[in-house]
Amino acid sequence: MVIFGAGDLVHRKLMPSLFHLMGDGLLPEDFAVITVARPQGNDESFRTEVGNSLRTFAPDGGVDQAGWRRFAPHLHYLAGELDDPATYAALGRRLTEIDAVIPGANGHLFYLAIPPSLYSVVIERLAASGVASRIPDPGQRPWVRLIVEKPFGRSLASAVELNTCVRRAFAEHQVYRIDHYLGKETVQNLLVFRFANSIFEPIWNRAHVHHVQITAAEAVGVEHRAKYYEEAGVVRDMFQNHLLQLLSLTAMEPPVTFSADAVRDEKVKVLRAIRPITPAVMHDYSVRGQYGPGAIDGKPVPGYRQEPDVAPDSATPTYAGIRFMIDNWRWHDVPFYLRSGKRLPRRATEIAIQFRKPPHIMFPMPPGERMEANTLAIRVQPKEGIALRFEVKVPGVDVKAASVDMDFGYAEAFGELHHDAYETLLLDCMLGEATLFTRSDEVEAAWSVMDPIIDYWASKRPEHFPNYAAGTWGPAVADEFIAREGATWRQP
Ligand code: BG6
Repeated sequence: MVIFGAGDLVHRKLMPSLFHLMGDGLLPEDFAVITVARPQGNDESFRTEVGNSLRTFAPDGGVDQAGWRRFAPHLHYLAGELDDPATYAALGRRLTEIDAVIPGANGHLFYLAIPPSLYSVVIERLAASGVASRIPDPGQRPWVRLIVEKPFGRSLASAVELNTCVRRAFAEHQVYRIDHYLGKETVQNLLVFRFANSIFEPIWNRAHVHHVQITAAEAVGVEHRAKYYEEAGVVRDMFQNHLLQLLSLTAMEPPVTFSADAVRDEKVKVLRAIRPITPAVMHDYSVRGQYGPGAIDGKPVPGYRQEPDVAPDSATPTYAGIRFMIDNWRWHDVPFYLRSGKRLPRRATEIAIQFRKPPHIMFPMPPGERMEANTLAIRVQPKEGIALRFEVKVPGVDVKAASVDMDFGYAEAFGELHHDAYETLLLDCMLGEATLFTRSDEVEAAWSVMDPIIDYWASKRPEHFPNYAAGTWGPAVADEFIAREGATWRQP
């Protein structure tokens, strides 16, 4: 495995995931990881750095020394400029040496853990040097695969350009575009939950579903990533990828087989069925926000504009709420409300299916009280699980209803989930299993959905930013927006 880059992602996610996969016996006895990066360094200094970061970021919080002694010798470091052909010549020599001592090595995996501005140059150099070659036949061994991190482009045009660059060097089956949400256990479970049960599918449609809410709330602020985030904003950062993935998995038709292309074909159809949002109706479909100073867990936190590397008059949104309509037979007229924000009261990602209310309520209700609608809430994180909310009679002489939950928790049923999404994704890529990766047409379809929204808001300077205090559930305009639709945001 060749990783380009030696930054945060490598130390926080990739190394701990590889270490854990090895510990679980999921890597072959013989493997090698070469990190190619700019800073000077060598195998030894890199191993020391990884040892340190593992102690901080290993998923189980500790590193067993025997494991580390087994893992460290597999790590190699190659210092070089990523645009210098000499780096690739040196990489080619290093790979030849390593392959010579690993009999039967069956593949080379290249991972782009670098800023997106460097993707094309690395792909071009890899191809030109012959270090990574295009393999038309998926069955050919040794295999060559490429993992590209998000963001994959920053608009439809740039994604198309990047796809063209990738296609010049690799066949589509060699390319694995990461969206780490797809590696989450609960996201994978969406397919099993929907298509391995017979009781939900008959009601999973416009006849029974009133609306769907998909929330990805974060308590953290922009942290140390403002240089990236100022350019991205919440819509590129969370909607184009993670939230649209959750929407497609929730809304897709049952695939014929559980194969990468069958699943991805159905997801792409959903994205293509999303009604385009034109500038004339943008305000009926979307709202945005930016956090100001506030408090999280009782501790004061700065506003977005006060964060390091953020412009004091920044117009970057840190919150968005968007209504999507899916114009197909199953979902016609069922709104999908998606929202995501930083510095909301707590970290919570969930998909909530709100069912229609009974057509006629025969029970007398006290004035002002309403019968709640049934809701199925799929908790992606934390407290992973699924809750079905329904009405029951409160014991007593009166006929009074109350909402209760039938709740399944992963932790209670199976123990804590301790595998990071990256472990699943790295392993799947090594096994050539592409279901949890985004295909080129899918990435482009997602940008086609988001581009008009991003462009519209970029052309209008927000007058009221910041418009929500850190530690609250977003701007008041978001509540007004959904209230106009006769709904309210859930508080997961
Ligand atoms: C990343 C975004 O893709 O996902 C971050 O760039 C965000 O801004 C993160 O914080 C959220 O991921 P998770 O797994 O913590 O929900």
